[in-house]
Amino acid sequence: MFFQQDVLDEVLARSDIVDVISGYVNLKQSGSSYTGLCPFHREKTPSFSVSADKQLFKCFGCGEAGNVFGFIMKTENLAFPEAVRFLADRANYTLPEGKFEPNAAKNKAVREKLFAVNKLAARFFYDCLNSGEGKTASNYLDKRCVSQSARKRFGLGASPDKWDSLYKFLKSEGYGDDILNQSGLILYEKGPHDKFRNRLMFPIFSAFGEITGFGGRILDGGSPKYLNSPETPVFEKSKNLYGINYARKSKAREVILVEGYMDVIALNQAGFANTVASLGTAFNKEHAKLLKRYAPKAVLVFDSDTAGVTAALRAIPELEYSGISCKVLTLSGAKDPDEFILTYGKEAFQTAIDKALGSVAFRINAVKNKYNLSKTEERVSFTSEVTKLLAELPSAIEKSAYAKEVSKISGIPEEAIITEVNSAQNVEQNVRLPVRLKTEAEKDQAEAGAREARRSLLRLAASNKGIAYAIDEVLKPSHFVEATLGEMFTRITERHRSGASFTPAEVLNFFDTYEKQKEAADVFSPKNPETAQEVNGERSLLQLVRKVLESYYDHKSSEACSNNDLSELNAILENKRNLSKLNIKVTDC
Ligand code: UTP
Ligand code: MN
Repeated sequence: MFFQQDVLDEVLARSDIVDVISGYVNLKQSGSSYTGLCPFHREKTPSFSVSADKQLFKCFGCGEAGNVFGFIMKTENLAFPEAVRFLADRANYTLPEGKFEPNAAKNKAVREKLFAVNKLAARFFYDCLNSGEGKTASNYLDKRCVSQSARKRFGLGASPDKWDSLYKFLKSEGYGDDILNQSGLILYEKGPHDKFRNRLMFPIFSAFGEITGFGGRILDGGSPKYLNSPETPVFEKSKNLYGINYARKSKAREVILVEGYMDVIALNQAGFANTVASLGTAFNKEHAKLLKRYAPKAVLVFDSDTAGVTAALRAIPELEYSGISCKVLTLSGAKDPDEFILTYGKEAFQTAIDKALGSVAFRINAVKNKYNLSKTEERVSFTSEVTKLLAELPSAIEKSAYAKEVSKISGIPEEAIITEVNSAQNVEQNVRLPVRLKTEAEKDQAEAGAREARRSLLRLAASNKGIAYAIDEVLKPSHFVEATLGEMFTRITERHRSGASFTPAEVLNFFDTYEKQKEAADVFSPKNPETAQEVNGERSLLQLVRKVLESYYDHKSSEACSNNDLSELNAILENKRNLSKLNIKVTDC
């Protein structure tokens, strides 16, 4: 956590949600709440509601919800600490300085200078592209169908075919050799000279639009094709994504991942602003972390050659590990997205994106392409390789669904495949994937009921100290299954214990991502809220608690099943049987 709880509460107290949101949405009062047209989705009749009491907003149309921080994170596209700063500024509240880092001020000054140098250099390259000196580069862009507006949008430029023209320019602007050396734009062996000469220049922007570095493409067939800025205090190649500034602004839930600068530009030009490329490095955890801040889903678009498939297969686990769910689009009929768009147009690209394979299907497909399935032996090899993949899938539901798929592809009966999956799991005891599973719908329904019970308990706990303490006697945070809900419960009981009264909006500040805040806000904005009196009776409270525990034990037992942990499984089943003896006592306080 970035800020102390009391600082967050202070900023929250000074930022009345109705007042803040009124700056963005035309709100009309009805009782203690206000309604207006939702800023997060298109609508004609208002379903966006702001509660002055709870200090929360909720859209009953699209489901967005949160407190005033969440609202600012979402509308201004800011991370939590940035939203806190934003609102503190708005309220003229000075945030207390964090722990003072001795080098922080100096580093900050250097970073700012480097951004300024980069900006000047970009301006210099841009002017060059648009003067006689950049004729070759601008002809080249013509040939590649890059529009004037795309050139502007991406600040494309040209570095002159001269030894040290940028150096002279930056010197004349008053920058010293030390900072120029650090910028990576000027090289100092054999006398100071420009790193980028006679190249098409691509400034690389941070998510917030600062220029962190450059890529430079050669204009003839020479090599290296691209030169990139070296690592500097503001440029870390493995953490940058080209196009992230526009992808962030696009607010798309799904980003398109491509390989090259030119692909990002071509897709932007065709209206896909949600496109980013890694800078010639494989997608890694750092990239995934950066992306995760802006979108939960990604479509990988790789070249259809083997290198492209290998790159996608490597990128999938990196992204999914960070919680980004991936699809993969393998292009055919073009070597990259740039060529695809120029050849087939944007509608065709959208259609292809819509048809992209889920990551599991893609991986199965990649295995399939290694074998000739018209031969029996190869069908067998395919099936045994792919069952290993299925064995790694996290849920029995997925395993079973893809087992069906593999059976279709290979013509080998589903039961045989399931048997294989089970043995690939290295099962020592007799815990196996049943051939017939509960349907997904049945599971979903049971799970939805339990989830509603967990949320009801949290609402009741927040509104009534006695209930909170009673629940605390019988439930642990982990029983709430979703981490966010568990943390909320801890927070709520802590708040009661500290004696102070609190609003639902304050409970949300424990979370520093919009998604979690939304989940928490949702708890307080149910469609049909129960009243405390309704559930205050100990019997119905007990029923809610039982439902929560039952679902928790079900979760745990299927986990124990897939780990083949029989003794754990028995312990859980024993606990579940004991549920009938559970009691709960609410004391008035
Ligand atoms: P590509 O060769 O696919 O580049 O390399 P591209 O952007 O499609 O360029 P065109 O269409 O051939 O003009 C993909 C990315 O790999 C990095 C660059 O970031 C490039 O955009 N790369 C490639 C380098 O850093 N250095 C190189 O020599 C080549
Ligand atoms: Mn290309």
